[in-house]
Amino acid sequence: MGLTGLFLITFLVVHAGINACIWFNDGGKTFAFYAHFMGTNFIVHFMEAGLFAGLILHIVDGLLLWKQNRDARPVKYSYSNPAANSKWYSRSMGILGSLILLFLIIHLKDFWALNRLNQITTGEERNLFAMMQEEFSELPVVIIYCAGCFALFWHLLHGFKSAFQSLGLNNVKYNRAIEIAGRAFSIIVPLIFALMPISFYFHLVH
Ligand code: HEM
Repeated sequence: MGLTGLFLITFLVVHAGINACIWFNDGGKTFAFYAHFMGTNFIVHFMEAGLFAGLILHIVDGLLLWKQNRDARPVKYSYSNPAANSKWYSRSMGILGSLILLFLIIHLKDFWALNRLNQITTGEERNLFAMMQEEFSELPVVIIYCAGCFALFWHLLHGFKSAFQSLGLNNVKYNRAIEIAGRAFSIIVPLIFALMPISFYFHLVH
C-alpha cells in the first residue's frame, strides 16, 4: 500500500507541475510543450504502463487489507467507539478511494482516452489545452472535478503519513515533520488541481 501510494503521489506531483503551466497564460504553449513530451516520449509511455499497474496494485492491495482486517475479527466487538482513536477519513479510505476511482474513470475518458485514440487513429495529438477550455466551460464538470479533488484531499490526509508508517520510515524524531509535510501536501496538491477547472471556468486562463 505504502510503496504504490508513494509512487502515485510522485505521479501527482509531476501531473500537477505540468498542468500548472496553464497559468503562464500563454495560450497553453508551455503546457503543450511538456504535455507533448509526456504524450509522445517512448520512456514516458513505458512509465504510463507502470502507472496503471501501480494504480491497480494499490486498489488490489487495499481490498486485500480490508479483507484481512475483516477476517481478523469475525465476531464484532460488543462495544466499539472507533472515534476514540482514529479519524473518520482513516476508516473511510475504501469509500474515498472508490470516489477517486469514479472521478478517474470520468477524467481518463475526458482527456486521456480521447487523446490516445486520436494518436492511434490519426497519428496526431489532440489540443489538450483547448479540450480543457471546452470541458471546464460547463459548471457540472467543474463541480465533479472539484469533488474528485476534495476526495483526494481526505484520502491523502490519511495516506501520506500512513505510507511512511507502513514502510517503517516513521521515527519518533521525524513523525511530527512527516505529519506536517503530509498535511501540507494533502492540502496544496488537490487545491492546485481544483484551481485548474475553476480558473478555466472563470476565464482566468487564456
Ligand atoms: C483537476 C484538474 C486536472 C486536470 C485539468 C487534469 C488534466 C489532465 C489531462 C489534460 C490529461 C491528459 C494527458 C494526456 O493525454 O497525455 C490527464 C491525464 C491523467 N490524469 Fe489528470 N488532470 C487533473 C487532475 C487529476 C487528478 C486529481 C488525478 C489523480 C487522482 C489525475 C490523474 C490522471 C491520470 C492517471 C492521467 C493519465 C496519465 C497518462 O497520460 O499516463 N488527474 N489529466
